[in-house]
Amino acid sequence: MLGQVLLAASGSRLVRRAVSGFPLTRKVVDRFVAGESVPEVRDAILRLRAAGLSVTVDHLGEETRDAGAAAATAKAYIALLEELRPLRLGTAAEVSVKLSAVGQALDEGMALEHAREICAAAAANGSAVTLDMEDHTTVDSTLRILRELRREYPSTGVAIQAYLFRSEDDCRALAHEGSRVRLVKGAYREPASVAHQSRAAVDKAYVRCLRILMAGKGYPMVATHDDRLISISELLADRYGRSRGDYEYQMLYGVRTDRQEALAGAGHTVRVYVPYGDDWYGYFMRRLAERPANVAFFLRALGGK
Ligand code: FDA
Repeated sequence: MLGQVLLAASGSRLVRRAVSGFPLTRKVVDRFVAGESVPEVRDAILRLRAAGLSVTVDHLGEETRDAGAAAATAKAYIALLEELRPLRLGTAAEVSVKLSAVGQALDEGMALEHAREICAAAAANGSAVTLDMEDHTTVDSTLRILRELRREYPSTGVAIQAYLFRSEDDCRALAHEGSRVRLVKGAYREPASVAHQSRAAVDKAYVRCLRILMAGKGYPMVATHDDRLISISELLADRYGRSRGDYEYQMLYGVRTDRQEALAGAGHTVRVYVPYGDDWYGYFMRRLAERPANVAFFLRALGGK
């Protein structure tokens, strides 16, 4: 219930102004966001690398219908990748892109072009791009753009949200050689006509999707902090003869850091999703919505405790 209210608030301009303007908010945001500038995110990446973790970096920003803002987001990604190039991190530092932030809602062709420019910059680093998945109305367009990008940049990946009824079919279509699929539960408020609503149903759907990906020929990216699903993914990897380099785990910056390091210590590839930038509001509200304890943490910080 609280989660639904927070997800609704993530789309409200009024709440955005109130939350963003509150000075102590910043303190809590820092737990989930690696900074506002490229030097700050660069330092965070180096800290994570020193702990044996890989990263996928997200320049924060959500839907824009402004061509200038879309171009600016693409430029920011390219500048980030150029800044990271001398570090020679290769596939250990990829980027995650929200197509809505590079103009998908305005013009699919524009989003494709911007995504292509970002893929080229990532490829110059020996790395790749993963497309985030947003609300259900964008899935077909995102998968069309993915198909186009993969012609030139075959290691481009995509996130698939287990909560959508359609996702098992999408996983089947994507479980082919060379395909990188990040499986997530799903973080948006979706209607019952398109998505499972209960936690139990979402978890079961996650396992069904995971089985398809693990049995397939692609590279599954198991993006969850849920211990039960991590254990199931180990069993499935075993069953389908996958060794540790044949799939990876992904978790969010600031969430279950101990677990991230333990999995990496056990020889798994663990990639941390590292968001940075000043447009953190929507991302931050989705993280609060996922876990009531985060709201308590937020309120305690606001109370100065
Ligand atoms: P669940 O929410 O059930 O959490 C399991 C446990 O993990 C909790 O009990 C808690 O201990 C811990 N936990 C989870 N979230 C926490 C938080 N915010 N703070 C503290 N503890 C927390 N979604 C989407 O729709 N499109 C996308 O492209 C992506 N991309 C993406 C990339 C990566 C790398 C990750 C890890 C996640 C996403 N997501 C996403 C978000 C995803 O859909 C989902 O909302 C979150 O991962 C939370 O779901 P869990 O699978 O962790 O399970």
